[in-house]
Amino acid sequence: MCGIFGIITLKPRAIGKDLVAGGRRLSYRGYDSVGCAVLSDGKIDLRKDVGKVDEVSKRLKFSEMYGDRGVMQLRWATFGAPSRTNAQPHLDCNGDMAGAHNGNIVNTPQLREQFIKEGHKVRSTNDGELCIHAVEKYYDKGFDMIESIRKAYEDLRGDYAFIIFNDGEKRLYAVKKGSGLVVGVGRDEMYCSSDLPSLLPLTKKIIFLNDGEIVSLSPKEAKFFSISDGKEIKKKTVSYRKSPEYARKGGYEHFMLKEIHEQPTAIEDLVELLDESKYVDKFLSFIDDSDKVFLAACGSSYHACLLGSYYFGNIAKKFVVPVVAPQFISQYGHAVDDKTCVVLVSQSGETKDVLNAMNYAKEKTDKILGVMNVIGSTLMNSSKAYLPLAAGYEVSVPATKTFLNQCVMFLYLAKRMAGESCRDMGELSKLVKSTLNSTTRDCKKAAAYLGRWDELYSLGYGSTYGIAKETALKIKEITYSHCEGMYSSEFKHGPLSAVRRGYPVMFISSPKDTDVMVSHINEVTCRGGKAIVIAERNESMVKNADELIQLPHSGDYFSPILATIPAQLIAYYMSTRRGIDPDFPRNLSKTITVD
Ligand code: AGP
Repeated sequence: MCGIFGIITLKPRAIGKDLVAGGRRLSYRGYDSVGCAVLSDGKIDLRKDVGKVDEVSKRLKFSEMYGDRGVMQLRWATFGAPSRTNAQPHLDCNGDMAGAHNGNIVNTPQLREQFIKEGHKVRSTNDGELCIHAVEKYYDKGFDMIESIRKAYEDLRGDYAFIIFNDGEKRLYAVKKGSGLVVGVGRDEMYCSSDLPSLLPLTKKIIFLNDGEIVSLSPKEAKFFSISDGKEIKKKTVSYRKSPEYARKGGYEHFMLKEIHEQPTAIEDLVELLDESKYVDKFLSFIDDSDKVFLAACGSSYHACLLGSYYFGNIAKKFVVPVVAPQFISQYGHAVDDKTCVVLVSQSGETKDVLNAMNYAKEKTDKILGVMNVIGSTLMNSSKAYLPLAAGYEVSVPATKTFLNQCVMFLYLAKRMAGESCRDMGELSKLVKSTLNSTTRDCKKAAAYLGRWDELYSLGYGSTYGIAKETALKIKEITYSHCEGMYSSEFKHGPLSAVRRGYPVMFISSPKDTDVMVSHINEVTCRGGKAIVIAERNESMVKNADELIQLPHSGDYFSPILATIPAQLIAYYMSTRRGIDPDFPRNLSKTITVD
């Protein structure tokens, strides 16, 4: 998704370099075009195009851009095709104001028509340009920048954040409504960005904005104003100690493979953190004291919630409903009251659908909990209590180590809630490591077979249902084939008709469900289908599976977690065999900040 990064400095300097570096740190979000606007010698220098940060900035010489304020933007197309004209930043009619946004202006068609009628020079079909004209409209009528932004805010519907500056006042302005916006306080310089980690290499002094707030930055101060009444507000500066480790591939061909191999360490770090955290009990007390508990999330995070609900139910005997975040509002909204606890689960902590669910729930209950990987994210800052996933920086668009840590987190919490010892959780990291070593060869072989098909199924039962769904998502996401993840017992209620000679169906089984799985496997194999099974070795599986990818013996609760490893590897090898870059699959973005 789009990312914005702004800098204002006391003296003009080659700020293009820092803008590019900031943009590069936001590039994990996924984008199709990039641009930079800098005020240079009283004029706005704007350069932008379709392509990757390094390639475009080299071609258009962003690093040489010189001035005392500027903004960089990475665009992921929603309104308007990826093109140079639609790339951001944008200029106002006369070219003396520039800015860029992140988010969605939902009344784009109406506003665009209105601005054109009013005589504005609207150059693109991108919604970000409308933010600039909306401010320009009032500024040209004589309102100051704060007032103009306040008025523009009323005209611009949707959720967004934008940064804007003009060639007159030595200030950088930004506003937040629904999308991430964070300010960094430097020495004689100020920064603002879509996220916290991108600022930390420049400064450790951070100020978070809330929705409905404007910031006016000069090189030496940050002033905040409320959109509602225009009055100045005081904000707290938070100090951070560490910069995030900015990922390198470290000898691996892709970040995805590296991140898959980082899972043993990620699990170890998480278990250690949970063992030592004084917040686990507080977190659990909210769940324990509630009549209704929801786990709301999207994509992979939702699949982890499916397993989470299984763990809470079977281990802690706590009824917990897993739900896709937007569906939480439409289907269960009526049931949310002050005795309801809503746990929002998100790697990024910025997923718009998840934040919508959070904001909805906040109106009805104060039991809002967060599980996220990105420290300083909106979800973290808005939850009553939160637990971090401690998976480290995840670059690759497909979630791997963050998904696994979500599953591990839920298992840990369910065991703690049940009063069970979590000491055996220390073994998980070693088991994951040995699964990586023992299954890689078989996964490559399975990927070679599965890669010949453009459609397949991935079936799970009980605890492995969420893992089967996650397997299917990984395959869809990075191979561009269709793979449907289902409850294995549902297969005979329709999809079985797809089975013909060689038709591939993956089965993921926990030891407990061997018997029922074997019968589902036979429904496929007796019709000529090919059953590729991920499970612990036992006689029955050996006899009935066409191919068995063997998991180490670990028992019913660990085995779904271990089964994730071959599923990730199969998807990875299918993807690379097709020549796809699994780190940046087409059309996708790491952080989805739109509805
Ligand atoms: C997973 O591989 C995907 N990239 C995607 O489904 C992701 O899990 C989803 O967009 C939710 O993201 P979040 O965890 O950051 O909220």
